Amino acid sequence: MAMIKLILSVLVLGAISLFPGTAEASVMGPTMQKLTWHYYKVYNTCENAENFVRHQVEKLYRNDTTIAPKLLRLLYSDCFVTGCDASVLLEGPNSERKAPQNTGLGAFVIIDKIKKVLEQRCPGVVSCADILNLATRDAVHMAGAPSYPVFTGRRDGLTSDKQTVDLPSPSISWDASMAYFKSRGLNVLDMATLLGSHSMGRTHCSHIVDRLYNFNKTGKPSPTMNKSFLSEMANKCPPRTKKGQTDPLVYLNPDSGSNHSFTSSFYSRVLSNKSVLEVDQQLLYNDDTKQISEEFSESFEDFRKSFALSMSKMGSINVLTKNEGEIRRDCRRRN
Ligand SMILES: *[C@@H]1O[C@H](CO)[C@@H](O)[C@H](O)[C@H]1NC(C)=O
Ligand SMILES: *[C@@H]1O[C@H](CO)[C@@H](O)[C@H](O)[C@H]1NC(C)=O
Ligand SMILES: *[C@@H]1O[C@H](CO)[C@@H](O)[C@H](O)[C@H]1NC(C)=O
Ligand SMILES: *[C@@H]1O[C@H](CO)[C@@H](O)[C@H](O)[C@H]1NC(C)=O
Ligand SMILES: *[C@@H]1O[C@H](CO)[C@@H](O)[C@H](O)[C@H]1NC(C)=O
Repeated sequence: MAMIKLILSVLVLGAISLFPGTAEASVMGPTMQKLTWHYYKVYNTCENAENFVRHQVEKLYRNDTTIAPKLLRLLYSDCFVTGCDASVLLEGPNSERKAPQNTGLGAFVIIDKIKKVLEQRCPGVVSCADILNLATRDAVHMAGAPSYPVFTGRRDGLTSDKQTVDLPSPSISWDASMAYFKSRGLNVLDMATLLGSHSMGRTHCSHIVDRLYNFNKTGKPSPTMNKSFLSEMANKCPPRTKKGQTDPLVYLNPDSGSNHSFTSSFYSRVLSNKSVLEVDQQLLYNDDTKQISEEFSESFEDFRKSFALSMSKMGSINVLTKNEGEIRRDCRRRN
């Protein structure tokens, strides 16, 4: 009970602190303060930048709802590796894009399309890093997530190196996952909340076959997974025996289904041992994250508030500002 009250008070604090002019420092940490609320309007460099992004996202989303989970994954892959500097967008033989953890990343074309419009309207002004943050916010909002303030003024990084990509595998242990989030200045509530992004999107069977057939190298399925869910997943993901075998895609949350909506059932699935990924199921194996999952499964609204706060925090990890980096004209290349 004490824990649940604590979470709620953090949420309320967080909601207030998202707006400028209040004491956000303690909650947001130092890097958020480098950013500005409506940067392009305040500095009069591209008054309608945020509207241009939203308009493009609306058009793109109407054609293809998968852009929401794809942008979310792209943003995560950018921000957790060397900060939100759009380094993941740079092309090159040794770029982050070429790291094995980043195979299957989509949404590059989406960013290119939006950037092209902004270069027509406000040449050389709006960073790729801000575009990625704004577009993700708008797309997940269209998918049913809450909207949240994206502070702007990020600049784009000059380098991208696949050696820096340390994104964890979906079967990472709870402790390692926690350590990973902490190293980025995020806490246990952020971790439990951001994993809720898996309420939409898809993953390859190769990321779950160990749970289905060889859990923890036991040669058996995960003992905790709900049996009927286990056989449902095993049907979709046959054992991988042959080289070159196809690697089907499965929904991360079968309830969200083909419309990729941001659903409330992610946490109730965790509680009933029906998570697709091991990293999600592990929320149940620790008292703190179990209580957070219980609270979020009971209140979608609490999850939505926490999601808004954690996304703002993620979007301000190690940002570049002022004369750091540059404003790329083409998101795939340095100027
Ligand atoms: C619409 O989405 C599909 C993928 O679902 C993509 O191949 C196509 O290029 C998109 N069309 C437009 C106009 O964006
Ligand atoms: C996996 O196996 C190791 C060694 O047998 C054990 O220490 C560990 O607790 C197991 N992990 C899980 C999640 O069951
Ligand atoms: C597993 O899920 C099925 C279908 O939702 C349900 O009927 C069953 O009770 C669950 N099993 C356990 C052990 O909770
Ligand atoms: C599609 O999304 C809506 C919410 O936007 C949801 O109510 C509905 O169940 C979803 N349908 C499928 C097939 O997933
Ligand atoms: C989920 O698995 C845990 C660990 O085996 C078990 O204690 C719990 O009762 C299970 N929950 C449900 C709803 O089946």
